[in-house]
Amino acid sequence: MNERSHPFRTSLLEENEGPGHNPTENATMGEIIAARFSRRGFLKGSLAVSAIAATVSPMALMLADDARAESKSAFIFEEVEAGIDDKHHVAAGYDADILLRWGDGLFPDSPEFDPVNQTPQAQARQFGYNNDYVGYIPIDGSSEHGILVVNHEYTNEHLMFPGIVKVVEGKIEVAPADQKRVDIEMAAHGGTIVEIKKVDGKWQVVKDGKLNRRITANTEIQLTGPVAGHDRVKTKADPSGTKVFGTINNCSGGVTPWGTYITCEENFNGYFTGELPADSKEAANYKRLGIPEATYEWGKFHDRFDLSKEPNEANRFGWVVEIDVNDPLSVPKKRTTMGRFKHEGAASIVSKDGRAVFYLGDDSRFDYVYKFVTAGKFNPDNRAANVDLLDDGTLYVAKFDVDGTIDWLPIVHGTGPLSAENGFNSQADVLIETRRAGDLLGATKMDRPEDIEANGVNGKVYVMLTNNTKRKDDQVDAANPRAKNAFGHIIEIAEDGGDFAATKGKWEILLKCGDPSVADVGASFSTDTTKNGWFGMPDNCSVDADGRLWVATDGNSPKETGRTDGIWAVDTEGGARATSKLFFRVPVGAEMCGPLMLPDMATMMVAVQHPGDGGEDWEGFGRPSYYEDLSTRWPDFKDNMPVRPSVLAITKNGGGKIAV
Ligand code: FEO
Ligand code: CA
Ligand code: CA
Repeated sequence: MNERSHPFRTSLLEENEGPGHNPTENATMGEIIAARFSRRGFLKGSLAVSAIAATVSPMALMLADDARAESKSAFIFEEVEAGIDDKHHVAAGYDADILLRWGDGLFPDSPEFDPVNQTPQAQARQFGYNNDYVGYIPIDGSSEHGILVVNHEYTNEHLMFPGIVKVVEGKIEVAPADQKRVDIEMAAHGGTIVEIKKVDGKWQVVKDGKLNRRITANTEIQLTGPVAGHDRVKTKADPSGTKVFGTINNCSGGVTPWGTYITCEENFNGYFTGELPADSKEAANYKRLGIPEATYEWGKFHDRFDLSKEPNEANRFGWVVEIDVNDPLSVPKKRTTMGRFKHEGAASIVSKDGRAVFYLGDDSRFDYVYKFVTAGKFNPDNRAANVDLLDDGTLYVAKFDVDGTIDWLPIVHGTGPLSAENGFNSQADVLIETRRAGDLLGATKMDRPEDIEANGVNGKVYVMLTNNTKRKDDQVDAANPRAKNAFGHIIEIAEDGGDFAATKGKWEILLKCGDPSVADVGASFSTDTTKNGWFGMPDNCSVDADGRLWVATDGNSPKETGRTDGIWAVDTEGGARATSKLFFRVPVGAEMCGPLMLPDMATMMVAVQHPGDGGEDWEGFGRPSYYEDLSTRWPDFKDNMPVRPSVLAITKNGGGKIAV
């Protein structure tokens, strides 16, 4: 979600994000490092960056120029023109075909999508709303037949339901919810697991796939790990403290090395209403997470979302959820060992010694970057042996030091400040309040950590930091060098010894985003980047089998950047480093999710989230967009069909690897 393109819902969720104060001292080393590979970028950059030029040696500049001469972009395609309209656009020579739309049937008995007469029961058998993370689990190693897993992050009522919007003084007002609407919303959340197959070069859904499944805000889920059964997760409805219903605000996720689906709970605070009873001890814990936020009205009809009735329920959300897609009856598991915060995603890679390493972002202003390393080793020969690997391991939080080193600080009860003295009586307490543990350990307060992906080809790790307009001049630090950071940046980490399980590494800034032609922005794209090639607000990303980085954005708009969100191909190597090119762009109002390149690199899956949520600042529309008056009816463009979030499969005309 972002703070601009859908003011009705998301700004409410994000306004309540953790207040931050960053005591880290100001530093410029990060900028010096960033400038090393982008000489012309920094010559065009801000005054602050230009001033640093004097401190970079002529030798460094010569080395940068040599590197430039040595290498060309790793991406070959004709760039899309940045802009905005009511359609999607992909690079010439490629098809972007709709694979799954909100409301599409996933089972032989799924009812036909009828938006005027939608029911919770129908929605639970159909593709959900606001597709975000897209993952792929091959069947028999194939890149043409597999299980697609898709997160459904949240719902936009003003786009989904007829007859509930009034426009008052140019602003949308949505009528209060009734139970049926809430139950449809709950069924539209969660995830989709569906078999897909490429036939004659085109992807299709296998509707009678035996593994097809919907996960919703009502699916039974088991709490596992140190928090399971703890008093702080017991409720009237579940005195065992182990049985939760539902997963919500499923933003990004991952696929584990052993082929399970990971879905992450992000802005879960928005679903809770009501006041905590005076005798509850959770007030400070909930405040740090912005609970309750009351963006949704679920608590009116379901007691568990009302803090006055179930004061512990919110401790049962904010986790990483693992789902075994091979068994459609399996109970998904909330893996509490991996911490509780506003989880963006959980991309993974196997360390040198065979342990699984997950990189985790906490998407709030001034919150942290984490990683989780399993205690046990991944067994590639015995899937069953990996079944509970995620219940035992070490969670680390990142400290980005001014000298370009990163320290991964273990979050372990009984060490340092994580003691009874500070209110932590066990590892369960530490995990329930992971953010406070990070505060006490002195982790670096970041500009909204989103997706973090390891690159198995070059051994690096890429951290998307989407933006942070609330960072003040006296709060900048080496890893977050811009005050009022409206456009975000990307950090590259090299773990010590190339070992993803290492507890130390080096970091540098790959890219400061925003318009490079505006000096005050201080962007650092290479000068080979065209006027279409720069972007703001990196959010999701994907590393392909050749180790190339693809970045998806959330928050570009006519007002902010003169363009919609999209997929940009970003070079990381040699002289082309920090060159970016636009490959795909979304229709008005949408943000870009996914992306995912399949292993054979012949298909890229992308997710278009909340299309038509906005239009005010697009001169082709110029007013609020809602069910009866939509800025786009993408992708069907039929008068009787609303706009529908969708997953697309991008392939090259005639087949073959993408952008090669
Ligand atoms: Fe749901 Fe952090 O984007
Ligand atoms: Ca987003
Ligand atoms: Ca995201």
